[in-house]
Amino acid sequence: MSVFPASRLRRLRRTDTLRAMVEETTLSPRDLILPFFVTHGRGVRNEISSMPGVYQLSVDELVKDVRELPGMGIPGVLLFGLPAGKDAVGSEAYARDGIVQQAMRAIKDASPDTIVVGDVCLCEYTDHGHCGVVENGQVLNDPTLDLLSQMAVVQAEAGADIIAPSDMMDGRVAAIRRALDAHRFTDTPIMAYSAKFASGFYGPFREAADSAPQFGDRRAYQMNPANGREAMREMAQDVVEGADFIMVKPALAYLDLIRRARESFDLPVVAYNVSGEYSMVKAAAQNGWIDERRIVMEILTGIKRAGADLIITYHAREVAAWLRE
Ligand code: PBG
Repeated sequence: MSVFPASRLRRLRRTDTLRAMVEETTLSPRDLILPFFVTHGRGVRNEISSMPGVYQLSVDELVKDVRELPGMGIPGVLLFGLPAGKDAVGSEAYARDGIVQQAMRAIKDASPDTIVVGDVCLCEYTDHGHCGVVENGQVLNDPTLDLLSQMAVVQAEAGADIIAPSDMMDGRVAAIRRALDAHRFTDTPIMAYSAKFASGFYGPFREAADSAPQFGDRRAYQMNPANGREAMREMAQDVVEGADFIMVKPALAYLDLIRRARESFDLPVVAYNVSGEYSMVKAAAQNGWIDERRIVMEILTGIKRAGADLIITYHAREVAAWLRE
């Protein structure tokens, strides 16, 4: 390796064109998946106070927004639902006419090429707000698998292109794969939220999806933010169980795991740039403390440089517009 003065790294930074020629990481709208929150009713467009620019939308309004995405180059959406009612077992999650299932049918009608990813988790649908069946204050693993499997099948029937379990129960990928296959959805891929941490960065999402746990927290199923090796075990097990994509969530505080995922597995790696990461940027930008565009591009480029193939982000539309300029 040559060093100064033979080597002068600034030589390749001299002009815009030269810098562009040696750019290693390029963000594209194709890398992005935009999440939506869908609610019952008509003409509903409620902005989420902690997530400026993100709305709870009724199906008719959702369809209007989704129709614009192909023109922006954004290939996919991720759907979360606000049910009409909640109960102990999250019944609307796996009801044929549940809100997300209605939304999936409407999107597949209006914008058939848009890839619809269904988030599979019970927390938005249960009255206790946990991601599984609760007994004596404990979230039960194995009984939850049946409900998640039903939810996955009902979503696939409604037109979901990808099933994305985010509950963090053990064995859900295998259970969902079996259920999908038994219902002839052998070609529906699973995007596993494999390394999902018990994170403070989900705060604004819980307002958006009305999914805060009513007692305790999620640390008995989501991962300890301190554990990297355990995250690798989670990912390895999901791969063996049949995951088609692996995900690291949140993104920014876990870039090391995005990198390790990239190096250890040959599956597509997905990073979720979560609600709190979005809200912090928005709040600082609204105060004039940071340059939103620069910061968002830098964050998403960093996530991609770490090794993500796909990024789930609430910034997707702005980024797609900036990339076209
Ligand atoms: C669970 C789920 C959560 C998110 C996605 N799926 C919240 C949680 O685990 O509490 C968070 C996404 C975000 O913060 O943007 N269904």
